[in-house]
Amino acid sequence: MVDLRGRDFLKLLDFTPEEIKHLLKVSMTLKKQKHNNISHRHLKGKQIAMIFEKDSTRTRCAFESGAIDLGMHATYLGPTGSQLGKKETIADTARVLDKMFDGIEYRGFEQEIVEELAKYSSVPVWNGLTNEFHPTQMLADVMTAYEEFGHLEGLKLTFLGDARNNVGRSLMVVCSKLGMNFCACGPKELWPDKDLVDVCKSIAESTGGSILFTEDTSEGCKNADVLYTDVWVSMGEADEVWEERIKLLKPYQLDMEKIKMAHENVIFEHCLPSFHNTDTRIGADIAKKFGVNEMEVTDEVFESSHSRVFEEAENRLHTIKAVMLETLKK
Ligand code: CP
Ligand code: NVA
Repeated sequence: MVDLRGRDFLKLLDFTPEEIKHLLKVSMTLKKQKHNNISHRHLKGKQIAMIFEKDSTRTRCAFESGAIDLGMHATYLGPTGSQLGKKETIADTARVLDKMFDGIEYRGFEQEIVEELAKYSSVPVWNGLTNEFHPTQMLADVMTAYEEFGHLEGLKLTFLGDARNNVGRSLMVVCSKLGMNFCACGPKELWPDKDLVDVCKSIAESTGGSILFTEDTSEGCKNADVLYTDVWVSMGEADEVWEERIKLLKPYQLDMEKIKMAHENVIFEHCLPSFHNTDTRIGADIAKKFGVNEMEVTDEVFESSHSRVFEEAENRLHTIKAVMLETLKK
């Protein structure tokens, strides 16, 4: 019997495969209830705080509207406007919020910060993205694959891009936990650190999953069930890295040629936001500076029948609600 009451949700390494599968099951129930207009205000009267030191659309909206669906109130603390970081430490902020709220979400920089927040507060703390991990995103990603294929074990998920970033590293963790075959396809310089790879390899051995690294796109994409990519430069990185990142990752841009190398029914996933055209300020700026009109994924793939990115974005809501419900319920 899985019991997650009172637990923090900081990274998926802290959770067993059974606990992760349980959260997916609850997510699917909550999705059905939402779609059928069945009230599920199981956490009526509770309150959460949401700290965002970095920008967000999906994660913020999922926590906030998810809290409301569950009968809660949510207070947003943005990158400016609170004392956090300027006049008050994480440890002090944690001890204050702990007295006023039933749960705390944090999006920001080092993983250490969210771990510190959890250390100094007695209520559940949820990681809404750090430099190292993006665990709530993972639940939505595997839920979307499960809805497509009806199972997760044995699926090959290939990540094309900067596999050292929060999404690449977290995908390696979730795939190894769930018996999936994870492949990081990109230049060696951007493969995840050995410590995490070793941990994930040993988890994968016990679940029947596997982990592969390759610089060869045909090896990476061959037989893939899910092709996944993310931005080439993550939030918090210096603008100066763009030039080199474009050079390194252009050959790994997810285009139709790579889709054709994969299984016929391959799906395309992306955590979003995505640079698939020049219709954003940064997209236009990069196009002007470096002459690339599409970055990690082509517009053709983004808009193709393989794309599940908006289903995946919807699943952020249901999975984040499951995390809040299971950690906060009585
Ligand atoms: N995928 C994701 O975390 O999106 P946001 O940055 O919009 O929250
Ligand atoms: N790797 C990206 C993910 C955004 C959801 C970033 O950290 O900016």
